[in-house]
Amino acid sequence: MRTHYCAEINEEHIGETVTVSGWVASRRDHGGVIFIDLRDKDEVVQVVCDPADNADAHKVADGVRDQYVLIVTGKVRARGEGLENPNLKTGKVEIVADEVIIENRSLPMPFDLGDDKVNEEIKLKYRYLELRTQKSYDIFKLRSKVTIAARNALDELGFLEVETPILTKSTPEGARDYLVPSRVHGGEFYALPQSPQLFKQLLMVGGFDRYFQIAKCFRDEDLRADRQPEFTQIDVEMSFCDQEDVIKVAEKLIYDIFTKNGFDIPQTFKRMPYSEAMEKYGSDKPDLRYGLEMVDVIDIFERCDNEIFSNIAKSPKKNRIKALKVPGGDNIFSKRQMKGFEDYVRKFGAQGLGYFQMKEDGLKGPLTKFFTDEDIQAIIDRCELEVGDVVFFGAGEKKLVWDYMGRFRIYLAEMMDIIPEDKFEFVWVMDFPMFEVEDGKVKALHHPFTMPKSLDYDDIEEIESIAYDIVLNGTELGGGSIRIHKEDIQAEIFKLLGISEEEAQEKFGFLLDALKFGAPPHGGFALGLDRLIMLMTKASSIREVIAFPKTQKAQCLLTQAPSPVDQEQLKELGLRIRQTPSA
Ligand code: AMO
Repeated sequence: MRTHYCAEINEEHIGETVTVSGWVASRRDHGGVIFIDLRDKDEVVQVVCDPADNADAHKVADGVRDQYVLIVTGKVRARGEGLENPNLKTGKVEIVADEVIIENRSLPMPFDLGDDKVNEEIKLKYRYLELRTQKSYDIFKLRSKVTIAARNALDELGFLEVETPILTKSTPEGARDYLVPSRVHGGEFYALPQSPQLFKQLLMVGGFDRYFQIAKCFRDEDLRADRQPEFTQIDVEMSFCDQEDVIKVAEKLIYDIFTKNGFDIPQTFKRMPYSEAMEKYGSDKPDLRYGLEMVDVIDIFERCDNEIFSNIAKSPKKNRIKALKVPGGDNIFSKRQMKGFEDYVRKFGAQGLGYFQMKEDGLKGPLTKFFTDEDIQAIIDRCELEVGDVVFFGAGEKKLVWDYMGRFRIYLAEMMDIIPEDKFEFVWVMDFPMFEVEDGKVKALHHPFTMPKSLDYDDIEEIESIAYDIVLNGTELGGGSIRIHKEDIQAEIFKLLGISEEEAQEKFGFLLDALKFGAPPHGGFALGLDRLIMLMTKASSIREVIAFPKTQKAQCLLTQAPSPVDQEQLKELGLRIRQTPSA
């Protein structure tokens, strides 16, 4: 149905007869001569239907509308002087139609294809029309090239691609499971995998040494701009390795993915301990494309004459007082904006937001009266303040301060428009705590199969794990760890997590058993493929890079999933809907 794709037609074909097929991107009637922009997968070519050249072709073209499917045969000729279109690969030529076949008609488009402002619900309902745009094609072309580059890189490194089950048992990645009822075993359920974590560890016990998979994962969790209930990981596991070996593989993989697709990135990435990330950026996924780093001033505030601050400063292990300097901020922010900043941090639990302004005649601000001259100077020195700078303070419980000051840092950077768009700043965040304690309950920060650095401790939150995350431009792109390969350590971790022996046996007995049969030392990581493509294409949401995504409410607007099922189906599964839980 074609001799060429549209993109292939150029000056070399002038005088040749060609056949192209595709969709009508636009049709214009210029005083009887009809111009059609015909688009196939990735380019547009101009077709001219002049009644003087071919009356039949012109007659058919007259009935053509947007997005009709055409097969056009005609002769290639150079466009007239001044009529060239430098934005198209085919911009120097056009096809003079000899024959126009309407292969299929189309209803009028429900929205303007390619218009970014169109309501997303409409676009998702007609997702196949959105996919017809150049922007979508380019995203999925890159996505395809990235998975191929990943496969090639891992193949070269000796990794075996293995598929793991989708109908499986619950894996503890921390989200809710999607459950699938079993018909054969009434009242029992499969869980869709939150990741192939346990199976990839079993493959290591199986002696495969190096495994990877482009793996579908399912998590029933609150959705955000960079989360989907169903997403894809480039999942990797290897044996007889330490953290350095795993990082080397991940860096080579990421390097190949980027450089083989025309992006320039370094071969190795910066590293930062978790504690530094939290203290300086208030986040375990710091965006290093810009500064605005926080410094600690708790020791200076301890000496101040304000009880609120000095009391907070009395517990430097539990609390923080952090300063965030905005160079030149005094000339940028209005009074109203400064007030707005306080309202912003209050949303995240802050009691308030103190500030100082560095003026020609010294440090000013409502708090200065509480400090001695020496301590004012100490603040100026610690924060390296220059005339025109503003410095903000957050004080309180450390996790709270990290959180709201970290958010505030991003808020300021976005507001001041200081984030360079074209930079890729990778950083390994390492040495994560093994556990976090929330409301007295101990939780694994990564997952319970992560190897602790040591199990000697005074404070359980001080135990570090051999876990690492790769962060790109403030987004967690992936993460991994060295795993526990010895049964006794695994049992100890379950105990610390408050998982009883029976519960551990019931949930992960198969893994614990496997560890008894000569499990090798092993570790690995997984990269979020969707997030990776989102960052590479600068897409505004993860939905743009998934062919058939779900909404923020986990619905597929195209197929209307999830949807009720027949009573008959429920009966077969032994299920009865007692009440519809509210969403
Ligand atoms: P983790 O849970 O950190 O690790 O997931 C790895 C990466 O998967 C991506 N990701 C998501 N992407 C889109 N939507 C989601 N809901 C979502 N959740 C996670 C992120 C994340 O960094 N088994 C471990 C890996 C390992 O230890 O080897 C795991 O799944 O980019």
